[in-house]
Amino acid sequence: MSWQGIIDHYQSYLPVTKKTPALSLHEGNTPLIHFPHLSELLGVELYGKVEGANPTGSFKDRGMVMAVAKAVEEGSKSVICASTGNTSASAAAYAARAGLRAIIVIPKGKVALGKLAQAKMYGAEIVEIDGNFDDALKMVRKLSENAPVTLVNSVNPYRLEGQKTAAFEVCEQLGEAPDILAVPVGNAGNISAYWKGFKEYNREKQTALPRMFGFEAEGAAAIVKNKIIPNPETVATAIRIGNPASWDMAIAARDESGGKIGMVTDDEIKKAFQLLAKKEGIFAEPGSCASIAGVIQQCKEGAIKQGSKVAAVLTGNGLKDPQTAIEQVTVDPVSLPNDEEKVTAYITDMVTE
Ligand code: F0G
Repeated sequence: MSWQGIIDHYQSYLPVTKKTPALSLHEGNTPLIHFPHLSELLGVELYGKVEGANPTGSFKDRGMVMAVAKAVEEGSKSVICASTGNTSASAAAYAARAGLRAIIVIPKGKVALGKLAQAKMYGAEIVEIDGNFDDALKMVRKLSENAPVTLVNSVNPYRLEGQKTAAFEVCEQLGEAPDILAVPVGNAGNISAYWKGFKEYNREKQTALPRMFGFEAEGAAAIVKNKIIPNPETVATAIRIGNPASWDMAIAARDESGGKIGMVTDDEIKKAFQLLAKKEGIFAEPGSCASIAGVIQQCKEGAIKQGSKVAAVLTGNGLKDPQTAIEQVTVDPVSLPNDEEKVTAYITDMVTE
């Protein structure tokens, strides 16, 4: 049978009961694509896990389908989350599908256009605050303790359960775990979920364990700097987070796997963003590209050895943030009149030596 989503496919690994609804937008089963140009450039065997191919364009769908299904199972009527954009888009979509109300709290002016469009289209009720993600998360965590609304941020344990399925897929796609799994780090839920997934799959199927390499944006590198960043700033708004909720689990993933949590500058992110699109044909949002930027940096520094098998998680689709993309590429389209002769002459000139 065709792919029916992660609850259907991985139910024996998930907290699924007879009462869990078969919620699905066919999330998961995303491609793992070999990157020949970057592999050659870096001297490693590099793959990208293209999570932008999920139904709402980010990895969040894997965890959200599980969290919303469990909310329905528990009789909840509303879900709430704080978000830098992707969580809210995903929550809104799955809530719409399940017939729940979605309330989202977001940092005003700091959510990429595509993500905001999604939340609006899926019918979420949107609250903007003059604060950042960390402020919003604090509010919704407290509020959900008393109000009749289910919190679907990654502090909801069902989120990580769903997200761990990406690690299963990477093992299936490569035949074993990679040497290194590189992933962007924001609130640190995803790195924790991948590590949980690799450990579980290794116990069941002896797929071995990767070293976990997580990358924060320099202006939001709380874990690297070992201190809360009160005013995080980065071009990668998805990971503009100064007090990650799963901080301890991310450190455990790093230490248990013999890995690393590093940071990449906005320049490194922007370079990786363009390189990935121009050399490999993959348009991933800036936050996603922290993983590729980190791999490039660590290869240069020699911390990733030549010949290593590296899987980099590309967490979200580039179409989410068209504004940043347009600002990166300063070459404007050539503007010509609607005149066949002029257009033909111009293009002929371009393609002939
Ligand atoms: N990449 C993208 C595209 C994201 O949207 C996020 C997080 C991350 C990476 C980091 O993952 O938080 O599990 O470490 N976005 C959240 C949101 C915070 O609200 O959409 P993490």
